[in-house]
Amino acid sequence: MRLEGKVAVITGGASGIGRATVDKFVREGAKVLIADISLEAAERAVAEVDAAGHAGMTAACRVDVSDFAEVEQMVATAVSTFGKLDVIFNNAGIAGGTPLLDHDPAKDYVPMIRVDQDGVYYGILAAARQFRDQGTPGVIINTSSIYGEQAAELAFSYSAAKAAVISFTRSAAYELAEHGIRVVAITPGRVGTAIINQFSDELKTVFASEQLRNTMTQPSEIADVVAFLASDEANVINGTVVHVDDGYSV
Ligand code: NAI
Repeated sequence: MRLEGKVAVITGGASGIGRATVDKFVREGAKVLIADISLEAAERAVAEVDAAGHAGMTAACRVDVSDFAEVEQMVATAVSTFGKLDVIFNNAGIAGGTPLLDHDPAKDYVPMIRVDQDGVYYGILAAARQFRDQGTPGVIINTSSIYGEQAAELAFSYSAAKAAVISFTRSAAYELAEHGIRVVAITPGRVGTAIINQFSDELKTVFASEQLRNTMTQPSEIADVVAFLASDEANVINGTVVHVDDGYSV
């Protein structure tokens, strides 16, 4: 129960890595606002958590993280529902891409930057202001990607956004430390979620072979690390990238 008494917001909490982290946080004693662009999916997640014996530990909220006003409202909802905020996991994201020379900027660049980059910036800003106003320490965890640190096929815009997330993490940790706020990024490799499941079985086998255990990472394995990073046991991990990629980047 290392998150006992904490209140967290998890964006993209209705699916994949976010959904697994909801379960882990609740098992560790946190109350969680499940924030997602799909309210229906977030409400379904709340019902599942309730049915698993943790009634009242979660609530659902619709948010489009690419809209700052909605992100501010999401933080306000966490506070009005659970009384405060201790942790935000800026995890919502979209993936995909086209060859650079075929780009229509309005379709292949702007939406990715708005969700995967601006969405994390808005989450950092809204949560940090809440932590400051509460006068309590806070933890911000941001989902980057292996592609935030290296080039990859069809990932021009995604890589740019995920690299920005790493830069945000460093700069925010630097600026916010005086308020007792810690900021960390994670870089997942190949995780078995909807984002990956859109690819063919053949490609998924290739993805798995790129990791040292030769298998796709389970969302729950990422959630275990996120829960540790959110806890006081990780107090000396700040402003850095935690590679949760099963050795992809070695
Ligand atoms: P997922 O597709 O299962 O979950 C993403 C969630 O984000 C969904 O519930 C979706 O509704 C939500 N979402 C999308 N746009 C949103 C918006 N504008 N506002 C609010 N919510 C929105 O995918 P997964 O894999 O769990 O992705 C989570 C994060 O992990 C993403 O940031 C992704 O880029 C990152 N990631 C995933 C990897 C993988 O192999 N699955 C590898 C590296 C990074």
